[in-house]
Amino acid sequence: MATVTKDLERKIEVLRDKIRHHEYRYYVLDAPEITDAEFDVLMNQLKQLENEHSVLITPDSPTQRVGGKAREGVLKARHSSPMLSLDNTYSEDELRNWDRRVRELSGRKEIEYVCELKLDGMSLALHYEDGLLVRGITRGDGTTGEDVTLNVRTVRSIPLSIPREKLKKTGIPADFEVRGEMLMPIAAFRKMNEEREQKGLSVFANPRNATAGTVRQLEPSITAQRRLDYFSYMLLKDGQTHFDTHWKTLNALDAAGFKVNASRKLVKNFAEVWTFIEQEETRREKLPYEIDGIVVKVDSTSLQEELGYTGKAPRWAIAYKYAARSGITKIEEIIVQVGRTGKLTPVAILKPVPIGGTTVSRATLHNMDEIVRLGVKIGDWVEVERGGDVIPKVTRVVEDKDHFRGHKSFHMPERCPVCGGHVVRTEGEADHRCVNASCPAKLRETILHFASRGIMNIDGMGEALVNQLTERGLVKNVADIYELTREDLLSLDRFADKSAQNILNEIGNSKKLPLERVIYGLGIRFVGERTAQFLAEHFGSMDALMNAKEEELLEVNEVGPRIAESIAEFFQEPENRELVERLRKAGLKFTGKKRERGTKLAGKTFVLTGTLAHYSRDAAKKLIEEAGGRVSGSVSKKTDYVVAGDEAGSKLEKAKELGVRVIGEKEMRELAG
Ligand code: IVH
Repeated sequence: MATVTKDLERKIEVLRDKIRHHEYRYYVLDAPEITDAEFDVLMNQLKQLENEHSVLITPDSPTQRVGGKAREGVLKARHSSPMLSLDNTYSEDELRNWDRRVRELSGRKEIEYVCELKLDGMSLALHYEDGLLVRGITRGDGTTGEDVTLNVRTVRSIPLSIPREKLKKTGIPADFEVRGEMLMPIAAFRKMNEEREQKGLSVFANPRNATAGTVRQLEPSITAQRRLDYFSYMLLKDGQTHFDTHWKTLNALDAAGFKVNASRKLVKNFAEVWTFIEQEETRREKLPYEIDGIVVKVDSTSLQEELGYTGKAPRWAIAYKYAARSGITKIEEIIVQVGRTGKLTPVAILKPVPIGGTTVSRATLHNMDEIVRLGVKIGDWVEVERGGDVIPKVTRVVEDKDHFRGHKSFHMPERCPVCGGHVVRTEGEADHRCVNASCPAKLRETILHFASRGIMNIDGMGEALVNQLTERGLVKNVADIYELTREDLLSLDRFADKSAQNILNEIGNSKKLPLERVIYGLGIRFVGERTAQFLAEHFGSMDALMNAKEEELLEVNEVGPRIAESIAEFFQEPENRELVERLRKAGLKFTGKKRERGTKLAGKTFVLTGTLAHYSRDAAKKLIEEAGGRVSGSVSKKTDYVVAGDEAGSKLEKAKELGVRVIGEKEMRELAG
């Protein structure tokens, strides 16, 4: 290992500060000063220095956001003081009454309030000790929550540490707790659901559920991929409010580097509260995340204490909720749509209803389980909600004297509505699928997927063109795209010389795109963008991937048995192999850059257990794999080494029992060279 000098230590710390500054500019202020590529250069420099001098890695280094082992189960943690909820109101009158009560109870004529957005996510507590983030806890039942520290660390708007000078300057103590709202921006939510849909996984109903699901994930590397955001709104010391006003709290958090929502206002009286509420409602549609109202809080901490609490909520705060973006209307029909994977989605055709500024005439019912859960029949009156999702959804059946029930039950068709192919529902899955491999609906969606921007990026090959190409039989699979001629295109409606040439150029350009795009474009079930990337890096060529056995596929990052099986099945199918051959002939990229692996540990199997001092779980795995070794999850006779860190548990015992060699991280590093 290279020697560590003071100079080097300083150099690394300066680099870290630079990266932290740019993370802050990007993730907290939303105002980057450098490009992503420039940022990556800095990050790679740091990673390299830390790789060479692993003793210098600190837990708050920007490289250490994703790391540690996956949680094996749920760990409970108690809150320093209860995490309360808020009383709600939907009416101006009730809000006025609340203000009156606060004034009466306090004996003051006018009260200063702080108005904030009511963010629609989940509340979460962050604990800092000596300025370092040490724990993240979900609200849970308010008294006890779940320890989700490793996931919280991956959220880049949450600082891993606050420098001492900043604490001093802002008056925040070294040990403190921040409470705030974790949320998933609408764009991230849509992207995630799209990817899940492509992989044939169930989608989340709204950004709030997606946030909760992501925060409680057992595997931090998955949380890291989903873009969560966190806004702070409370600062506690030993469970007590620290500053004498709420406004000061928010500004101190802001100055210390936490993300505090900019839409906040200190107001002098009720009239100003109401102005804020009205103003923010007009901006609601344009926000990149969901809010469901405004929170009004008494500014003075001593007055808050005087007012106290009723049951589960403070008397000093209230949530004014905006009217839900929903409407009530009638289901006139339920149709079925067929997607790329053959999934059948029931869609309610509605009597058009205005909701939050647009007219809604369709809403998704997701799948048969959802229809059963809601108890929906054709002719029912239902509530339809338009949330962060593009597609509105039916949330409940309405039944009263004005809204009679419908009578006609919906059944999933036994035959595909597009091709007449068999429809099956695999046990344990929520979705019905058309099993006909050449179903035109599947074909259409497959071609659209292949040509889309994130994959082969064939600009101009949208719905209108793909419909014509598939309907006229010019394109029966993705390889046919590369055999399209000028004449073929000119035979279509609305195609002239120039537009035909444009499409041919686009198709030609797509051949230059890297191997991972081609793999992604094949539309193998469960293989999304990231998996395709890992596969390309691991195998380095389409041929190696095509001929890989399931065991080899399982060695790829994030590939589990289900994905491995799906890939192997795909390439066993002669039709698929033929398709791939045609893509090769067409000149698509079939080789890429393989991540070179060493050979020092070739054939050796390692098991990691306990906490290592200088390596996160992922970093240790990477070190071993890059030296040609394999990391397994459980100890057996075939295990060559068990690497034991602090608090190693049953795996260590098992190793001793089986006589497997146990080593420490120093030895691991030496073995890996
Ligand atoms: S203050 C005792 N401020 O609303 C004070 N909560 O209905 C409790 N929420 O569990 C929290 N935005 O998840 C506060 N600006 C905001 C908020 C907010 C969203 C959520 C929070 C809380 C729930 C209560």
